[in-house]
Amino acid sequence: MTDVGTTHEDLERFLAEHHLVGAGLRREGRAVPRTGNTAAHWSWEGIRRGLMRSGEIVTVGPNGMTGMRSVVGIEAKNFPIWMNAQILMPGERTQAHRNLRSETRLVWEAPPEAIFVCEYEAYPMERGDVVISPAWTFHDHWNKGATPAFWIDGYDNGYNPNVNINERMPDAQPYEEITKPMGYGQKTLALVRPIAKLPPFPLPPMRYRWTDTQAALEAMREAGKTDPYDGILIMLASPVDGGPTLPTIAWQAQMFSAGQKTLAHRHNSTTFYFAFEGEGAVTIEGERLQWHKGDIFAVPAWKWHSHENNDNTDSILFSIDDWPAMRKLGFYMKEEAKGF
Ligand SMILES: [Fe+2]
Ligand SMILES: [Fe+2]
Repeated sequence: MTDVGTTHEDLERFLAEHHLVGAGLRREGRAVPRTGNTAAHWSWEGIRRGLMRSGEIVTVGPNGMTGMRSVVGIEAKNFPIWMNAQILMPGERTQAHRNLRSETRLVWEAPPEAIFVCEYEAYPMERGDVVISPAWTFHDHWNKGATPAFWIDGYDNGYNPNVNINERMPDAQPYEEITKPMGYGQKTLALVRPIAKLPPFPLPPMRYRWTDTQAALEAMREAGKTDPYDGILIMLASPVDGGPTLPTIAWQAQMFSAGQKTLAHRHNSTTFYFAFEGEGAVTIEGERLQWHKGDIFAVPAWKWHSHENNDNTDSILFSIDDWPAMRKLGFYMKEEAKGF
């Protein structure tokens, strides 16, 4: 593997070799997007090394402040939804703002002191947590720890093209003051909550703890609830109506046992995956894509695909899928193969 180098040019070249582009760097003309059913696959090795160097040499954000420092696959923007990976270095805090796309984050690695700030409340960054800043909620990120924080973003950009309105804090405040105690939203948005006079809008920030997600996966395994097409699959439900995480996308987690293979299905929603645990492969229209822990990959709409765990332990995939949007639009279709 080539060295990341020390200049912006070096980093752009390194990222291009890994089919990635970086925020705050030149994006055009570095690499030709790949084609084919398995083109949307990016290795954690490339992502991590690119992010680390970005953290050292790329400053993004107005007036020298830290903005979004992320990498995304060159081919990702061919899809209506996508994931990218982001880093926040020790001591950094991003400028607070709100915008019209939903911002959703899966924590991959972070020191205990790192937090997301959403609507004036701190949310811890515990590995495997999914934290949602729905459209038009204020958010910033703050790494008060001594090591970098990494997370995976999931976006529904394709559903609001050209209208991702951005707004800074009132009175040009750079950050949100944390005025609510940690856990306030979780305590008041779950099974126990105040009686709302009006429907909640915007949607509230949400935190889905890894411990709860893991417990649900394990409970389903014990109950024998394995789907022949998706293994043990759960979605992170909206606390507002129990439906999918957001009107546009659902965050999902799924688990496959050692050696498990699924049957094939296809649907006209797009799925972006993050390989959270283990090793495995997805076969898309006969093309096999072997993934490793930390990789990001996508299954394009309406392509037959099946999963396999080719490790000797459980494998766990997190994913975002735009089936909620497709269903609302009346376009959702799914077909299941009968045993091949
Ligand atoms: Fe944002
Ligand atoms: Fe699928």
